[in-house]
Amino acid sequence: MPEDNLPTPSATAATPHVRRKRYSGKNPRRFEEKYKEHGSDAATLAKVIASGKTPAGTHRPIMVPEILAVLAPQPGEIAADCTLGYGGHTQELLARLAPGGRLVGLDTDPIELPKTVERLQALGFGEDVFTAHRTNYAGLPQVLTGLGIEGADMILADLGISSMQIDDPTRGFSVKLDGPLDMRMNPQRGVPASVLLQKTKTDDLARMLELNADEPNAVKLSLTLAEQHYATTRQLAEAIRATLPYLGKEDADLTVRRVFQALRIAVNDEFSALDMFLRNLPFCLKPGGRVAILTFHSGEDRRVKKAFDAGYYDGTYSDIAKSVGRPTPEEQHSNPRSAPAKLRWAVRAKA
Ligand SMILES: C[S@@+](CC[C@H](N)C(=O)[O-])C[C@H]1O[C@@H](n2cnc3c(N)ncnc32)[C@H](O)[C@@H]1O
Repeated sequence: MPEDNLPTPSATAATPHVRRKRYSGKNPRRFEEKYKEHGSDAATLAKVIASGKTPAGTHRPIMVPEILAVLAPQPGEIAADCTLGYGGHTQELLARLAPGGRLVGLDTDPIELPKTVERLQALGFGEDVFTAHRTNYAGLPQVLTGLGIEGADMILADLGISSMQIDDPTRGFSVKLDGPLDMRMNPQRGVPASVLLQKTKTDDLARMLELNADEPNAVKLSLTLAEQHYATTRQLAEAIRATLPYLGKEDADLTVRRVFQALRIAVNDEFSALDMFLRNLPFCLKPGGRVAILTFHSGEDRRVKKAFDAGYYDGTYSDIAKSVGRPTPEEQHSNPRSAPAKLRWAVRAKA
């Protein structure tokens, strides 16, 4: 998306030249300065990607070949992408569902969803093949029923947050960029992380840090952080580091990441949504339908594994992943954000 004060390519001929914004140093540092990455300059995008980064305002889909192998999309089939994000996986699926197939996309984020819909429509995926629904994926059965779909041939969920959400400091997810301590995927619902933390008592915070992020210093951190008000991401990160001053930089950085992860999961009630989604899944799949789930930390993966194992033993699923799939070393190297990803899949029994 072009930056506000820059001309769009079609407007360039009609309007006088506008000087591009200057930034200090060799590379843009601030999110809003990364205007070059927002445009369609393929060479710039390729350069950013080759350096192992994700261009601002985009998301690089993870384990695409592995997911396509598991979901095996065929022309005429129906797919549900429960975590549409930038639409990277959706775009690949849609290309393989034609002719005659369709994809139902869900995402809870009211800020990024319209941009993704616009992007996919510009690629030629009209409402006949692609519809987007701003809703929690826990409500997948209601969305499918509303569309008159009895069951999908394939379902994808790529959990967590997108690069667009992480990289936008105003969303409050980033451990690196300063911004309001918010962390809501849907800022129209719930309370920001700053309010949640201020309301959370010591014992509850210690439990939250342990359950949501396996944080080894949960008790110590909760004694400092519970019921405190931190308005910004930087203030919270500094308070975490100050609580454990003896940690080296790497361990301190990891601790900050774990506390942010734990808070984000709590703010968005992520485990409740995932548990409900896993319970509903078999009823949303046609017999023989395939599901693939990408998780990014142990709390998520444990839930998916348990649900698939239970479904396999009681005959709901005829087959499940025997071991967890991981991104290739090449993918982890070229896209470090893929490194923690774990892929599990299951096939709905036919009988
Ligand atoms: C990792 S991104 C998905 C990226 C996507 N696969 C792509 O290729 O662009 C996860 C997305 O899921 C959305 N999300 C997370 N939890 C959700 C939930 N419970 N219901 C609906 N959407 C959710 C987030 O807003 C985010 O856009």
